[in-house]
Amino acid sequence: MNAHDSEKVVGTLLAQGYAQVETVEAAELVLYNTCSIRDKAEQKVFNRLQNFKREAGKGKVFGVLGCVAQQEGEKIFDRAPHVSLVAGSASYPRLGEMLVQLEAGNRRVTGLSLDTEETFDTPFTRRDNPHRAYITIIEGCDKSCAYCVVPFTRGPERSRTSESVMAEARGLAEKGYTDIQLLGQNVNSYRDPSPAGWDFAALIAHVAEIPGIRRVRYTTSHPRDFIKAIVDAMDANPVICDHVHLPVQSGSTRVLAAMDRLYTRDEYMRRIEWLKNAKRNYSLTTDIIVGFPGETDEDFQQTLDLMDEVQYASLFSFKYSPRPNTSAILMEDRISEEEKQRRLVIVQERQRAIQIRHNAKLVGGIQEVMVEGRNHALGQWIGRTSCNRTLNFTHTGQDGADLAGTYLPVRVTRSGPNSLVGESVTVV
Ligand code: 5AD
Ligand code: SF4
Repeated sequence: MNAHDSEKVVGTLLAQGYAQVETVEAAELVLYNTCSIRDKAEQKVFNRLQNFKREAGKGKVFGVLGCVAQQEGEKIFDRAPHVSLVAGSASYPRLGEMLVQLEAGNRRVTGLSLDTEETFDTPFTRRDNPHRAYITIIEGCDKSCAYCVVPFTRGPERSRTSESVMAEARGLAEKGYTDIQLLGQNVNSYRDPSPAGWDFAALIAHVAEIPGIRRVRYTTSHPRDFIKAIVDAMDANPVICDHVHLPVQSGSTRVLAAMDRLYTRDEYMRRIEWLKNAKRNYSLTTDIIVGFPGETDEDFQQTLDLMDEVQYASLFSFKYSPRPNTSAILMEDRISEEEKQRRLVIVQERQRAIQIRHNAKLVGGIQEVMVEGRNHALGQWIGRTSCNRTLNFTHTGQDGADLAGTYLPVRVTRSGPNSLVGESVTVV
């Protein structure tokens, strides 16, 4: 989401007549896009801003965008006086206007209001990848998970109209994009504000029918809003990839309640059952937080049991990080840093073993990959499967041909915990 925000901001700047340069030294305007989801990400921003400081005074103008900007607001001007612009993502529709103020010499420009109905749809988005494109369908979040800063930094939910999403997707298909990733903090609560009134299941079904689109992915889902109609839409059209990212956060109903996640372990498992009993074989991935305040050994054990039960294809795991403005920051029974670290390592080791077994089962089979690029050192191409695994492969075809962006069948010959190796095959 953050990377796609940058693509939209860069597109807006280019449309206003700015040109991109290769280095900070060569730039007259430096915008820093930031993340505050966990403490570590936030710290990086201030370290990086310190490095920029040396550049200040040489006529350069600095801006801080994104979640840290929204969260810290005007305090950033005190902490880093060389910064002239502080704006959160909900204000990006006003970015053009803010740039004009900067150009006029205003050295304290802010965009910090969350009171918006708008989304940042920009026709000028400068996309980093020529084959895969992100499309934001919903911005902000109306949930209030106790650990999460997002509702405070990205504001309330705003869905784009289905017409605008479809027009963007069709336009991308016409330009040759084949792989579309629909984005939102909680894509499942997408609700078309226009009279068509599509829900998320209807939207993915329609995007997947656009001629030229070969893959549709989406992220992120919230289990509470992940309804059976989504699985049915996926089953009905294999253009929608064989992958669902369904963040569970914890396997303990008690911890889920403390997190305000709005589902129990059983309710989550019901969704997993839908996916396991579906027509296609879906690869499941998740996010897990360890060491949430009050998480006992027994709660933690339930998370490990859930991992054994679901057998995720991969997962992201995090140590709980207290965030400003969130309700969990006031909770007692903090878990020590050492204990969080211990639990994190256990999750990661357990998952590594699961992935080794999972990936080994794919050896001998054929997977269609979208070619993402080449690893020259290894003499391999890098591909991605519909189930979102990296599959590095050799290809004996014309020398020098650029396969990037093409789709090829690849036989898996070896597997590791994090990727697969194979060779392209000719299917007759
Ligand atoms: N501490 C740790 N992990 C967090 N996440 C979000 N907020 C926090 C936090 N305060 C994780 C969740 C979420 C993912 C994007 O980041 O697992 O799904
Ligand atoms: Fe954060 Fe919860 Fe919203 Fe996800 S659903 S962005 S975790 S508040």
